[in-house]
Amino acid sequence: MLLVTGGAGFIGANFVLSTLAETGEAIVNVDKLTYAGNLCNLDAVAGDVRHAFVQADICERARLRELLAERRPRAIVHFAAESHVDRSIEGPAQFVQTNVVGTFSLLEEARGYWEGLSGSARQSFRLLHVSTDEVYGSLGPQDPAFAENTPYAPNSPYAASKAAADHLVRAYHHTYGLPVLTTNCSNNFGPHQFPEKLIPLMITYALQGKSLPVYGDGGNVRDWLYVLDHCDALRVVLEKGRIGETYNIGGGVEMTNLELVKTLCALLQQMRPRQGGRYEDLIEFVKDRPGHDRRYAIDARKIERELGWRPRESFQSGLRKTVRWYVDGRAGR
Ligand SMILES: NC(=O)c1ccc[n+]([C@@H]2O[C@H](COP(=O)([O-])OP(=O)(O)OC[C@H]3O[C@@H](n4cnc5c(N)ncnc54)[C@H](O)[C@@H]3O)[C@@H](O)[C@H]2O)c1
Repeated sequence: MLLVTGGAGFIGANFVLSTLAETGEAIVNVDKLTYAGNLCNLDAVAGDVRHAFVQADICERARLRELLAERRPRAIVHFAAESHVDRSIEGPAQFVQTNVVGTFSLLEEARGYWEGLSGSARQSFRLLHVSTDEVYGSLGPQDPAFAENTPYAPNSPYAASKAAADHLVRAYHHTYGLPVLTTNCSNNFGPHQFPEKLIPLMITYALQGKSLPVYGDGGNVRDWLYVLDHCDALRVVLEKGRIGETYNIGGGVEMTNLELVKTLCALLQQMRPRQGGRYEDLIEFVKDRPGHDRRYAIDARKIERELGWRPRESFQSGLRKTVRWYVDGRAGR
């Protein structure tokens, strides 16, 4: 079985649901249920004996030790984190606590567990750490996309806390031989995302007729990936990735925030035409986020070349599915 941390959040829940559907492997899902965790995300597997939910904080080492000893997973997939840049600017302490201290406590307990394994269980054990492209900082318009050997230059407290976690994961491999894998992924979109992040926020506000706040001039560029493609990439890395390596994951779709919001408005206009105007008329430019990274872009050639992964969903079709999911009111269920 797999032990997943943060499996009630956006990407974690999509990973749990898609893994159970595609591989059938049992999962123990450890999540603290912060504001970002939502058990409704897991409604589809309620009562499924292959899924066990455990409410716990990854900083609680004794609890992790107990769970590892009891469940004996073949791998850990680590999603649990504080993940919203704006919140990290307002209150960085919780980001250091969960993303750095929490990852450290998971590494320590994983190391103890792994050292106690023998034979093929020890050989095949993996810890997959799910990280972000934000650790690489910001790109200029002509810079090449982030590759695995791009130097780290995190700019927000969120990115810095994830970078610190990545370094600890790397060190646990080099120092103790812990069989780790790290992935750095671009911005995800899809169902089950908490509506503080750009895409669900814009859809939710638009449907409520509220203004659509776009930071600065809307020219910040992000590379977007449909969440189920990310989950697929994680399963591929878990099965075929080389121990100690990092893999960048991205959709190869670069877009300014303004272009993205206009695309969302156009899709909404088709699916639920706005009475008395266009959704686009609701766009309002607001004061920029401090230190807002201008551009992210991912060079995902390594994972394609070495492991044969590439996204299956096109940006347009993924976005259409996502908007449809929110328009149908499924987020509230
Ligand atoms: N969302 C993206 O676009 C994106 C892109 C690249 C990487 N990532 C990374 O992927 C991971 C998941 O991101 P997400 O968008 O699903 O985040 P999310 O905020 O939606 O979910 C995080 C989950 O972790 C849980 N959690 C938080 N603190 C915890 C703790 N101390 N102990 C146990 N559980 C805890 C929360 O309850 C929640 O269920 C994160 O590590 C994030 O850095 C996200």
